[in-house]
Amino acid sequence: MTRRSFLTGAGVVTVLVAGGGVWRASDRGVFSVGEGPAYEPWKNWRGDAGDGALALVRAAILAANPHNTQPWLFRVSKSRIELYLDTKRNVGALDPFLREEHIGLGCALENLMLAARAGGYDASLNLLAGKLATIPAEPKPKLVARIDLAPGKPHDSELYDAIPRRHTNRSAYIPQKPIPPQFIDALGRLTGDEADVKMFLFQAEADRKRIVQASATANVALYSDPEIRRGTDPWVRIGWNSVQKFRDGLAIDNFGEAPIAAGLTKMLPAWLLQWAASRQEKTGYADLMLSAPLIGMVAVRDRYDQEQCLRAGRIWQRAHLLATARGLAGRPCNEAVELVDREKALGKPAKQAGVLGDIVGDATWQPTFVFYMGTPTWPGLASARRPVEAVIL
Ligand SMILES: Cc1cc2nc3c(=O)[nH]c(=O)nc-3n(C[C@H](O)[C@H](O)[C@H](O)COP(=O)(O)O)c2cc1C
Repeated sequence: MTRRSFLTGAGVVTVLVAGGGVWRASDRGVFSVGEGPAYEPWKNWRGDAGDGALALVRAAILAANPHNTQPWLFRVSKSRIELYLDTKRNVGALDPFLREEHIGLGCALENLMLAARAGGYDASLNLLAGKLATIPAEPKPKLVARIDLAPGKPHDSELYDAIPRRHTNRSAYIPQKPIPPQFIDALGRLTGDEADVKMFLFQAEADRKRIVQASATANVALYSDPEIRRGTDPWVRIGWNSVQKFRDGLAIDNFGEAPIAAGLTKMLPAWLLQWAASRQEKTGYADLMLSAPLIGMVAVRDRYDQEQCLRAGRIWQRAHLLATARGLAGRPCNEAVELVDREKALGKPAKQAGVLGDIVGDATWQPTFVFYMGTPTWPGLASARRPVEAVIL
């Protein structure tokens, strides 16, 4: 089952009523949203006085990351943090060059750098250069960045304060609620003087419809492919016990359903959920995307350049934190780019890269991350996180 087929899930409520909710609500986490060990990292994220540089890692692990795989490992000393990609935590054919996992590490770096400034460090970041390759047969941690820490002055920021409130929000958005022009301006300025990362923003309905069309088509193409499903299905955590045990992946609380529907969905037996999801209509995802008044793309010069992936991730995290700070919600919707990867991995002509190139209208930029933003119907909820101890080398 994929997050996308799952997400348009209002129909499952009917199925539950018809099927009889015989499962015990309390065992299934119906009354424990955001509770238990899987959600602890969101509560103690500032750490305590004895934490030193470890406090920066506590902030880093709350970052966005693909399918909540949490592909990060950190080596921490008093004056340096090293960030590694944990290459075994991947979604297989959906991300065959680990492009998205590198973007996720960029997201973690952004939180880490914000926490460093807030914590009174003068932090200097060194990104390791490289070209992305296929998933290694023998996975081992890969160093991607070093952060050198010296004493500095503490600087608070609205972005740092937004870290524990930022959640991917997959509910429908309210189309009538426009995004303030000041926010759009601020978003457009986020890339600052980056030479290799640029943000493209689309508000006109005709533009958004083009992107939605490309995303919905890619969504169907990808998720009807059994090889893709083999990579992603293991990251969907249907049962509450598995959420608390693995503390990663996508859980029912993160699918953007209305609270009561999410509660009822949790009580469904897994086989009934699979069946209900398989019956969802295919237009659901396009309608969901179109409900948001803004669609954006983060583009780079070279999609398979390691450093540029990390930089793109920093920009997404910054954009999502800014939206959170200003009372807006956001969600990545990256199928259109994932299909570029899939075509490349299969050695097919780069048709999808051309579709995205036409949308941005500038052949010198390659979209690598697509998202939408707006005012949500329901608040986004925290996703599970492994404890900091599990990600330290
Ligand atoms: C590179 C990247 C790609 C992502 N793609 C999607 C996507 O296509 N659809 C989606 O719903 N969420 C997507 N996400 C969001 C993640 O699933 C989400 O960040 C993760 O589950 C952790 O949840 P949180 O952001 O609420 O902390 C993506 C995130 C990253 C960093």
